[in-house]
Amino acid sequence: MSKTLDQIKTIFELFSEAVLILDGDFKVIWKNRTASSRLPVSLNSVKAPKNLTGGKIDKVTIPTVHGEESACMAPLRDLFILFIPDPFPKAKTDRTPAPNNPQKDLKNIPSAYIYTSKAMIETINLSTRAASVDTNILITGETGIGKTFLAKLIHTNSPRKDGPFVSINCGAIPPTLLESELFGYEKGAFTGADRTGRVGLLETGVLGTVFLDEIAELSINLQVKLLNAIEEKKITRIGGRKPVELDIRIIAATNKDLTKMVSEGNLREDLFYRLNVISLVIPPLRSRPEDILPLANHFLEKYNLKYNVHKTFNPDVIQAFIQYGWPGNIRELQNAIERMMVMSEKEKITVQDLPPHILAPRAVLTPPPPSNKESNLQNERETLERELILKSLRENKSIRGAARKLGISHATLLRKIDKLNLNGAILASSKGRGGKRE
Ligand SMILES: Nc1ncnc2c1ncn2[C@@H]1O[C@H](COP(=O)(O)OP(=O)(O)O)[C@@H](O)[C@H]1O
Ligand SMILES: [Mg+2]
Repeated sequence: MSKTLDQIKTIFELFSEAVLILDGDFKVIWKNRTASSRLPVSLNSVKAPKNLTGGKIDKVTIPTVHGEESACMAPLRDLFILFIPDPFPKAKTDRTPAPNNPQKDLKNIPSAYIYTSKAMIETINLSTRAASVDTNILITGETGIGKTFLAKLIHTNSPRKDGPFVSINCGAIPPTLLESELFGYEKGAFTGADRTGRVGLLETGVLGTVFLDEIAELSINLQVKLLNAIEEKKITRIGGRKPVELDIRIIAATNKDLTKMVSEGNLREDLFYRLNVISLVIPPLRSRPEDILPLANHFLEKYNLKYNVHKTFNPDVIQAFIQYGWPGNIRELQNAIERMMVMSEKEKITVQDLPPHILAPRAVLTPPPPSNKESNLQNERETLERELILKSLRENKSIRGAARKLGISHATLLRKIDKLNLNGAILASSKGRGGKRE
């Protein structure tokens, strides 16, 4: 039974509805991810529904933060399964507004922007505040984690939303061309220049947002020019005399540790402070496994639509996804899913369809990149706890075994798993042991 129950749980994790498993006294003993992230935490037990006929599916109502919600209760041996089809009527997508201040959520988030983890909710809350004030922003995060996506979201939620969004990848333009691309030039400014001259990319962003990706690639010479442009709010085209007004907001992005670059003399400190007025950090995917399943489902849906197919994941694929480290982050996950969906001829995608490197277990969870956020003891402790628990879950055959290894009680570990939103890790750790949440 426990093996079957574990398989059932794995399937319930794929549901966008909230699903809870209750014991005979209607105490909640397990919730799927949707239920964990969308229902009030206080829902630890359900009042015995009136007129429960037993033995078949009953319609019941349960209290949530939005008032009474209707749900279905189905018996399963000595347990009950509770389905709440629309647990969060106002937010139908896979994202979760911050529980205490939903009004602070970015208004213009497309349903394709997926996040459920606490760390991302914090980043989005901060982005919301940042969007409305006209200051420069620095977004830090590994490649493929969504820096460009977030920059666009901030723009579309800012007062400059009707202006242009100009995206410039400083690492992709040859260094010799970067200056003229950024600042533009007057006619005849240099040999090979267009006869008519050219407007620079910075200038094309006037009244809008300029996204400077891979900002660490700017030469010292261009750093000085950019700093002047920011301070003066004016630029002069190459070969030109008259400065041009430059009313832009800059969102810079990097996967490098800019503080280190400043201390090593590769980045001007004054430019760093000009860009880093508000610092947003997007944590790597491996440090927030709870976001993997909603993202995977989202991409599955997207490519089912694109290729007009109806593929689904076998639960072991999801387990492998949660265990893998995703160095290329969301971009890598998206590409892997598209590739599997194109290559596999079957409706059901199984681990056999996975590229072999995704199946290779990772030894240690890599810590997230240094954050510019003030470190606070509580955050540090949670990060450390999360890593130790994930490691122990990977190395031990059962949650009970992991708890023993960690020197804490089984109940404490279960509580911590819920608190740190690590239910995804349980899925992963139950792989191959016919796992029980015991
Ligand atoms: N939160 C998210 N939800 C859904 N897709 C995302 C999310 N963040 C990023 N992506 C997708 O992942 C890919 C990489 O994102 P991108 O913004 O280009 O990353 P970066 O700029 O950090 O390299 C893009 O296809 C983007 O649409
Ligand atoms: Mg990018």
